[in-house]
Amino acid sequence: MVANDTPASTYKYNEKPVYTTSNGFPIEHPSKWQRVGTHGPLLLQDFHLIDLLAHFDRERIPERVVHAKGAGAYGEFELTDDISDITSVDMLTGVGKKTPAIVRFSTVGGEKGSADSARDPRGFAIKFYTQEGNWDWVYNNTPIFFLRDPSNFPLFIHTQKRNPQTNLKDATMFWDYLSTHQESIHQVMHLFSDRGTPYSYRFMNGYSGHTHKFTKPDGSFVYVQIHLKTDQGNKTFNNAEAGKMASDNPDFATQDLFEAIQRGEYPSWTVYIQTLTPEQAQKFKWNIFDLTKVWPQGEVPLRKFGKLTLNKNVENYFAEIEQVAFAPSHLVPGVEPSADPVLQSRLFSYPDTHRHRLGVNYQQIPVNAPLRAFNPFQRDGAMSVNGNYGANPNYPSSYRPLTYQAIKPTNPHETWSGIAVSDLFDEVQPHDYEQANGLWGVLGRTPGQQDNFITNVSGHLCDAHVDTRNRTYDMFSKVNPELGAAIKAATEKNVKA
Ligand code: NDP
Ligand code: HEM
Repeated sequence: MVANDTPASTYKYNEKPVYTTSNGFPIEHPSKWQRVGTHGPLLLQDFHLIDLLAHFDRERIPERVVHAKGAGAYGEFELTDDISDITSVDMLTGVGKKTPAIVRFSTVGGEKGSADSARDPRGFAIKFYTQEGNWDWVYNNTPIFFLRDPSNFPLFIHTQKRNPQTNLKDATMFWDYLSTHQESIHQVMHLFSDRGTPYSYRFMNGYSGHTHKFTKPDGSFVYVQIHLKTDQGNKTFNNAEAGKMASDNPDFATQDLFEAIQRGEYPSWTVYIQTLTPEQAQKFKWNIFDLTKVWPQGEVPLRKFGKLTLNKNVENYFAEIEQVAFAPSHLVPGVEPSADPVLQSRLFSYPDTHRHRLGVNYQQIPVNAPLRAFNPFQRDGAMSVNGNYGANPNYPSSYRPLTYQAIKPTNPHETWSGIAVSDLFDEVQPHDYEQANGLWGVLGRTPGQQDNFITNVSGHLCDAHVDTRNRTYDMFSKVNPELGAAIKAATEKNVKA
């Protein structure tokens, strides 16, 4: 569906529709129901009442297992700079080309009703409705992540959610995991800086985090990472402000986004790319498939190529934001996933969860439907609502030959060979603390940011068990001995007797 052409947007507010049952029977009054006599029991034949209640009973669909709380809007991406030397992706070819998009921002760990200002990474997911299919960027507001071994994802997420017995958030679980999986330290540094509590969604960046590949028809490719930098400037809450906002207005970021767009203050992000050739990647100090590392910008400069602008609110939150389904596996010709094992696992996980959350035909839901799709070999299933490809053959029939379009010739881009091994990617090495220390230095560039970091950690860590606290002090000392000592002193002061 074209983002700016939803059926809802054509709704006429001055129409006076006749109210009916769900099957179209006009109803005299929505609150009248059928019963025996004046005070007698209800009649099962009253389809209007029974159907109303039965539908209400089924209003909820499963909330997202992570990133349950979110807000979003429509917009467009404009290619502002020529990058045809590194890509043949249709959306990225032809300066000035505009592509419609929908964006959903989110927090990660909390439930659907949780506070927008929570200390948490923020999701920054974008669906581009390109001429060659939907391309989803399922990004966060941090350039790295807590883990590089995908099997840790469910385990890690459990520790950020609720204790199975008390049903409470649990500081010991939280820090026990992080201090025993110290490859997470770089992301912990981001999370507990003030950027862990953005002022609202408009005032934060987005990052691919993962390495992807831009492939060209001649078989060449480059590795890429993408950055979206907020044109509104980075603006954050400190710990106290974020806590206060959680009780004053838990939906602050949702409201801020909606109202800014209604006022015509369209938020935008300038989009940059970092690239490495396969030869450069081979010699690079950092493993480019390690999601806990950035590509230092001094060595791999940012190159500007586009602008994302949000300019239209949705008409219906459930239809367009709750039902939007992003997946890192929704790709378009000219872009491929890298061998990053976390990305590889995500390729599976998102369509899998959409089939559970929205049903097997989730791609038919208008907000998810590509501009053009024709795959009549996928048929039937719950909620097939697009005509189910009518009389088209459901197999490659010689009586109705289809065109199979090799949009761009492809050559093999990478060659992998080896024996099947059971891999462990999360063994922590001394260099895993290096970029965390780099961020500690970046925080030092803005007065007060290092102090706030210590306040933010100590206010949370003080609730953890003493063994966990001690292990966590050791972890921060490996980043920087003064940092470890400062966190220990501040945290122990906060420990309740
Ligand atoms: P540079 O000195 O070249 O750039 C620093 C980066 O840090 C900029 O992208 C800046 O983004 C960002 N930044 C500034 N203040 C903060 C903050 N309070 N919290 C988080 N990020 C901030 O750095 P390097 O590339 O050499 O990396 C140094 C450290 O910067 C890394 O360890 C990493 O944690 C962090 N960083 C690096 C990024 C990368 O992709 N290389 C991206 C983001 C952070 P902005 O323009 O938005 O202020
Ligand atoms: C949402 C799994 C890592 C960004 C989700 C959802 C699942 C999931 C199941 C819910 C999707 C839905 O119900 O619609 C995983 C797994 C990961 C992983 C298994 C690692 C193995 C990451 C990383 C990032 C990320 C590294 C960012 C770089 C997001 C975003 C959303 C999301 C932005 C919300 C999408 C939306 O707004 O609908 N993830 N995730 N995830 N994830 Fe991940």
